[in-house]
Amino acid sequence: MKTCGLIECLNIIALVILCSRAAHGQLSSTFYEDSCPYIWPIVREAVAQAVEKEKRMGASLLRLHFHDCFVNGCDGSILVDDTPTFKGEKNAGPNANSVRGYEVIDIIKSRLEFACSGVVSCADIVAIAARDSVVELGGPTWPVQLGRRDSRTASLSSANTLLPSPFANLSTLISQFQAQGLSAKDMIALSGAHTIGQARCTIFRSRIYKESNIDTAFATSMQANCPSSGGDNNPSPLDVATPTFFDNNYYKNLRSLRGLLHSDQVLFNGGSADAQVATYSMDPYAFFSDFATAMVNMGNINPLTGTSGEVRKNCRKIN
Ligand code: HEM
Ligand SMILES: *[C@@H]1O[C@H](CO)[C@@H](O)[C@H](O)[C@H]1NC(C)=O
Repeated sequence: MKTCGLIECLNIIALVILCSRAAHGQLSSTFYEDSCPYIWPIVREAVAQAVEKEKRMGASLLRLHFHDCFVNGCDGSILVDDTPTFKGEKNAGPNANSVRGYEVIDIIKSRLEFACSGVVSCADIVAIAARDSVVELGGPTWPVQLGRRDSRTASLSSANTLLPSPFANLSTLISQFQAQGLSAKDMIALSGAHTIGQARCTIFRSRIYKESNIDTAFATSMQANCPSSGGDNNPSPLDVATPTFFDNNYYKNLRSLRGLLHSDQVLFNGGSADAQVATYSMDPYAFFSDFATAMVNMGNINPLTGTSGEVRKNCRKIN
């Protein structure tokens, strides 16, 4: 095999560094420093108000970022409304009657349009709102990278295939996250988002009536609000212990077979994820630190940057 000479090698190294930056889309936490300096307090304030009004909204805003990023990158595509001639992502199976928080993004967008018109993308608003929600509910913080641009499209079919199913097994979850450039470790840490928020009966009915790797008392108590037929939309907390607090109880629940979703309990079921779940159940700071890292990684999925895409005027409509 032919190896490179010194100068040639340095050039290759420089290229590799440049390319890996380009792959991260040149996002930076100072992107709006000059163009919209009050972006941080404007988003933080609006998220605080929304969460004060309804704690669950913090969970909903976190999930909104996840469902945006997993469908062709963090590009605000989930926010686009359907029209008579265009079917977007909002009515995809994993989103319909389930994803919430669009109105909060609208409020933030209108305040930012007032402060610095035409500057801040909807995709970046969703990324900051997710972080501020986690902080508001007692979780870790992380530096949100900015500079994403908004898509001029949305994909119903990608939303239906790329978002993971609550009935998936561990190997499917690992490969779906790997397809997005996220590791199994990231996936296990990110699943800790289910320490907040709620799921509907229809999503966990088969788990609480049919599965055997479940705590009996937990199954019985969940059945009270989720009958074997009917009540499909009845909500229950994903973390039965502290539903509105961002902590490591999700992992403690898994160890005591109190995961609400099938896709939660597969992370602690005698497989390759068990050790990491055990670590997080004992060490909240290990969870917080890995969650923060994984959120930055998730926020870096395939952003539109530079002159690609657009900065939407209204998050619900392509300009
Ligand atoms: C590992 C694969 C995952 C699966 C299969 C999954 C699935 C689900 C399902 C089915 C629900 C309940 C939806 C409903 O009943 O309407 C839910 C809720 C939620 N998910 Fe996930 N999820 C996953 C990963 C994540 C990730 C990575 C995050 C964020 C980082 C996240 C954040 C949330 C939050 C916060 C809620 C509650 C939302 C609310 O109360 O409005 N999930 N998830
Ligand atoms: C996991 O689920 C996929 C898709 O349903 C299936 O093809 C695969 O065999 C399952 N793997 C295991 C280990 O059960």
